[in-house]
Amino acid sequence: MRPGRTVRQAADPQEVATLAADLIAEQVKAKPELTVLVATGSTPMLTYAELARRVQAGELDLSRVTAVQLDEYLGLSETDPRSLWNWMQRSFVEPLGITRTVRLDATAADPRAACADYDAQIAQLGGIDLAILGLGPNGHLGFNEPPSLPDAPTRVTDLTPESQASNRVYWNAEVPLQALTAGMNVILAARATLLLVTGAHKQDILGRVLHASSTPDVPASLLNGPEVTVVADAAALGSPA
Ligand code: PGA
Repeated sequence: MRPGRTVRQAADPQEVATLAADLIAEQVKAKPELTVLVATGSTPMLTYAELARRVQAGELDLSRVTAVQLDEYLGLSETDPRSLWNWMQRSFVEPLGITRTVRLDATAADPRAACADYDAQIAQLGGIDLAILGLGPNGHLGFNEPPSLPDAPTRVTDLTPESQASNRVYWNAEVPLQALTAGMNVILAARATLLLVTGAHKQDILGRVLHASSTPDVPASLLNGPEVTVVADAAALGSPA
């Protein structure tokens, strides 16, 4: 393992959620106006549910947080229930009482201008304080598909066949072939990063992230500094619980 990065092992996905929620709560207590880059996907859902439980119990206040969308399918409107924007609203923004958001506008006539506007909004907020990320089966972060260089900007990307296949569970028929994603440059500049990983099906790719050399062929392997915490369950780490 490369120095600087912390790995926290949890017994199971629920313990990943508890640990991750503890780390997020610490950050929000230190800075209530936290700007958070928010992944959707199945992995962080238990963490968001745990945060919602704490908010409802009055243990945590996330109302001053700004939620920044990580990625979006090209062409999907904000009202489309399949959009990642919609998913972020249902799982994070609404249950946590958040009112400030930054959207990647995937229906803009000029997607490049939409990406520039997104980057400008993040810059105006002073950058990302905390990135909450999942790990793609091919090592992608957001929709930064392999290979993605560390300075890859916010942009329109072509989804790899592997990502199309994993997205298919959320779609009845045709899966989108393109998406907008926060750039690697946005993700890697986050002041703190939580990479959440669960399940035996992520064991191989997590092994490459943690133990192989850092390479654009595994974008998540470029997450490398002391600001990065990987929270993974025993199944993903391939270790006894
Ligand atoms: P998952 O997706 O959390 O649904 O496994 C992760 C990703 O593809 O980024």
